[in-house]
Amino acid sequence: MPEGTDPPAAPTPEQEAAYLEALDRKIAAMTLPEGCEPLPLDPNYKSVRLRHYRYKGTVINTWHVMAGAPEHWRRFSARPTDVFVASFPKSGTTWLQELVWQVVHQEQSKQTDEPLEYRFPLFDMPSVERMRFKEISEMSDPRLIKTHLPYHLLPESVWTSGAKVLYVSRDPRDVCVSYYHFCRMVNFNSYRGTFAEFRDAFQKGEMMYGPYREHVKGYRDHAGQVLCVTYEELHQDRVGCIKRVAEFLGRPMTDELAQTIYQRTSFAEMKKNPAVNYTHWQKEGVAHPEKEVGAFMRKGKVGDWTNYFTQEEGDALLKWSQQLV
Ligand code: PPS
Repeated sequence: MPEGTDPPAAPTPEQEAAYLEALDRKIAAMTLPEGCEPLPLDPNYKSVRLRHYRYKGTVINTWHVMAGAPEHWRRFSARPTDVFVASFPKSGTTWLQELVWQVVHQEQSKQTDEPLEYRFPLFDMPSVERMRFKEISEMSDPRLIKTHLPYHLLPESVWTSGAKVLYVSRDPRDVCVSYYHFCRMVNFNSYRGTFAEFRDAFQKGEMMYGPYREHVKGYRDHAGQVLCVTYEELHQDRVGCIKRVAEFLGRPMTDELAQTIYQRTSFAEMKKNPAVNYTHWQKEGVAHPEKEVGAFMRKGKVGDWTNYFTQEEGDALLKWSQQLV
């Protein structure tokens, strides 16, 4: 979206019906890429248009397939000045993205109204239907790019070009809780199963970008090349993280600027900042308007899992997550 342009208004019922009809036609005409197998339908996803597929060990969905995403990944040519923020969903991606944006654009020393997803677009999907992503190939340097793809699905050029990759991970129990709420909130999921059902699917790796453990391991195994930070570190020592990121990206950093970025990336600031809190999704019809399904910037805490797991269940999930990583 060009800077200064408002997101489009919510669609009328007639526009919505025409959109869904066109979408159904596209889904019916879709061909699966090689190595892509449909997973059994999970009836808890109330969006009848959503289906999961396993592609080279990773779960992708109808939108990726419809948009020809695997081909787009293969064709992509990374530049040495590119900066990728990678993560398993709900691990603190937006938080690290905003921090990186501030570190890279420090000379401007100001905030912007442009939504983060246009300044720092998602790599994983070319624009599809209502989900319009910025054409990354047309962005000027340095390109800041978000991805949830696992290490092995990122294009080879990312690793050979000298592009910088940062990875953020989070306690899997908090990831699971945050992901559950996210899948309830967004229309292309409309998840209406119980938390226990969601948690089981999480462990089985049957959700988008799963399996979780392999995702984390893929990047951590390359920690010499990738800057790995955790959501918990962003809570405990954000100034330290800001300095590490600046050093990794070869940007100068002063204590004063680190403090400014620290304040701008607090949960309270980001929650009220429409440029990063994804409130435009409601207008665009991406997020569910029901109040009870919550907001993108939900709680922003470490340890919310204790409200969803018993201590025993939590311990077991943590142990499970450490068995592979
Ligand atoms: S996504 O959709 O995968 O890009 O989501 P992601 O940004 O990875 O994760 C969203 C969770 O991160 C929390 N968040 C923050 N926590 C603390 N401080 C700041 N500044 C911050 N920004 C985002 C957000 O609230 C989601 O976590 P939960 O636990 O659901 O609140």
